[in-house]
Amino acid sequence: MYEQISHAILNDTLRQLSTSKQDKQWQFFYTRLGANFYAIYSLFHHLYGHRPDFKPQLAHLVAVLAERYGQRSAALKAQDLAREQDHAWFMHQKWVGMALYCDGFAGTLSHMQTKLAYLQELGVNMVHIMPICDCPETNNDGGYAVRDYKKIDPRYGSEQDLDQLIHLMQQREMLLALDVVVNHTSDEHAWAIKAKQGDATYQDYYYMFDDRTLPDIYESTMPEVFPEQAPGSFTFNAETQKWVMTVFNHYQWDLNYSNPAVLIEILDVILFWANKGVDILRLDAVAFLWKKMGSSCQNEREAHLILQLLKDCCQVVAPSVLFIAEAIVSPTEIIKYFGEDAVNAKECEIAYNATLMALLWDAVATKQTQLLYKGIEGLPEKLDRATWLNYVRCHDDIGLGFSDESIIAAGFDPVSHRRFLVDYYTGHYEDSNAKGFAFGVNKKTGDARISGALASLAGLETALAKQDASAIDDAIATISLLHNFIMAFGGMPLLYYGDAVGTLNDDAYLIDSSKMNDNRWVHRPTLDWAQMDKRQQKGTVEQRIFSAIKQLIAVRKEISAFADLNNRALIALDNPHVIAFSREVATGMHARVLVIANFDVQAHCIPTQAFQQKGWLKQTTVTDLCSGQSIPLTPAGIVIPKLTAYWLSI
Ligand code: GLC
Repeated sequence: MYEQISHAILNDTLRQLSTSKQDKQWQFFYTRLGANFYAIYSLFHHLYGHRPDFKPQLAHLVAVLAERYGQRSAALKAQDLAREQDHAWFMHQKWVGMALYCDGFAGTLSHMQTKLAYLQELGVNMVHIMPICDCPETNNDGGYAVRDYKKIDPRYGSEQDLDQLIHLMQQREMLLALDVVVNHTSDEHAWAIKAKQGDATYQDYYYMFDDRTLPDIYESTMPEVFPEQAPGSFTFNAETQKWVMTVFNHYQWDLNYSNPAVLIEILDVILFWANKGVDILRLDAVAFLWKKMGSSCQNEREAHLILQLLKDCCQVVAPSVLFIAEAIVSPTEIIKYFGEDAVNAKECEIAYNATLMALLWDAVATKQTQLLYKGIEGLPEKLDRATWLNYVRCHDDIGLGFSDESIIAAGFDPVSHRRFLVDYYTGHYEDSNAKGFAFGVNKKTGDARISGALASLAGLETALAKQDASAIDDAIATISLLHNFIMAFGGMPLLYYGDAVGTLNDDAYLIDSSKMNDNRWVHRPTLDWAQMDKRQQKGTVEQRIFSAIKQLIAVRKEISAFADLNNRALIALDNPHVIAFSREVATGMHARVLVIANFDVQAHCIPTQAFQQKGWLKQTTVTDLCSGQSIPLTPAGIVIPKLTAYWLSI
């Protein structure tokens, strides 16, 4: 029955599309639309079928798909076909990403062009440029408060600058990822301005309420995202005398996806950027897309249906474009952003592995690996055609997002363990060299997250201030170890700009009134290229870190076992400081690799029986692929130096 109705609507809609769309180059559009339409119809019906405008809205959605397909260039259409043939192309070990702010990294988009050589020198071939859309001068949350989704912010340059950059990146076979801030707009967006002027159509683009009755009910179950700088989830708007839902900052108005017009507008934005030649779209704050009273308003089923719908529509127009889910939620929830009960991703192909990131910082602080082990063990298996973004630092804070159960299973008490971690990284723990800051401290719940540059959290800033050579060595080893882990784990490693030369905390934000209340800016530096150049001066801290990470990247790309094919197996060891896992594929260079990592500040000897039972490590020496060194295997076992990980070819 559903199927009949959906086909009738499809045929009607197609008849209305102009006859010029009947020629041969449209065949792929019709084939893909036909293949995906039943899913698109069902999802749209599930979300909006109860509305009187259901049919015209669905027809509008199809018209948007047709219009955007008509505008897609021949080169991108060819890329669509090529990537459809090689559908798991993004899971190859050759991809290594970096996230950066255009201004902090290079200044402008045209200056970005001159920095591509640096990225290639390091081995980075996927670049996530953080939001570059037009946004207000001050109230912009680092670009995540968009005023115009289809205009480049003049601070970064022009549309032509971006076109040129994309062209140069394509020549260098580099992928570009850009954000689409799907959950909210700036309160200066044209829709918000019309809403403020009393336009009911646009007021329905947001959640606006005449009094506090419903906001109070919502807030009683919604956790606060920014409890210090933006407490609560609603903001009073004086022009309309209404309360507007603002889950993040007071100037970020949450979009109302129960209105299909909003979904279609955002779909159009997604396809606009897909047609620009962007390879990967990072969908921001996707966990928040659907608001339901009485819930946390995160991870609702409808949020997943919206993502599935966006994906199915994107498959019709621009199937080569991937989505990244930015959902910083528990592991059991994160995994659902690939899509539930599926083999291949049906929502986003890529998701941030926030759990692994937090677990790595736990291992650094405790110098132990039990929680890391339990956390990885508890990470649900990803889908076949889906991959993780593995990162150590990003532009946001570090949330201690592992579950209480895993903390208990690792032998710690959840409350005191989380407190220890915050103390450790914010300089309130005697034995710690880490220099970070507490972020998002919630006095009501006692929760806190952590801000700080990777190098400063790893102890480099303190060690340099003390001129303590051995502490500097340890900090460099820690930075290298963390990067080692994300290269080997399974997924696409995502570096953060500045980290490859050990960039420290940047205090500049403290004199900027629009940033001083948000200490995430401490780890969003403006790079000093004179310091960056020190990567070429032998013996400098910059050179030591850069060359270590560069080497890891180069070697990773040679190891077939590092392609992300659900081919990781944890190996239980009898040592609380060391963790081991194997990676294995059927064929290729280095098809089986054993990764052993020691997070302690002293060496550990690991008996080799557990490995020998599997037929591995039976010889007298083994090669560490990272360094090319020969590692002896003695009857007592294999010695893993402090803060070191080996990639052993077995
Ligand atoms: C995402 C961004 C973060 C931003 C928030 C609101 O979590 O990563 O920087 O503050 O969304 O847009």
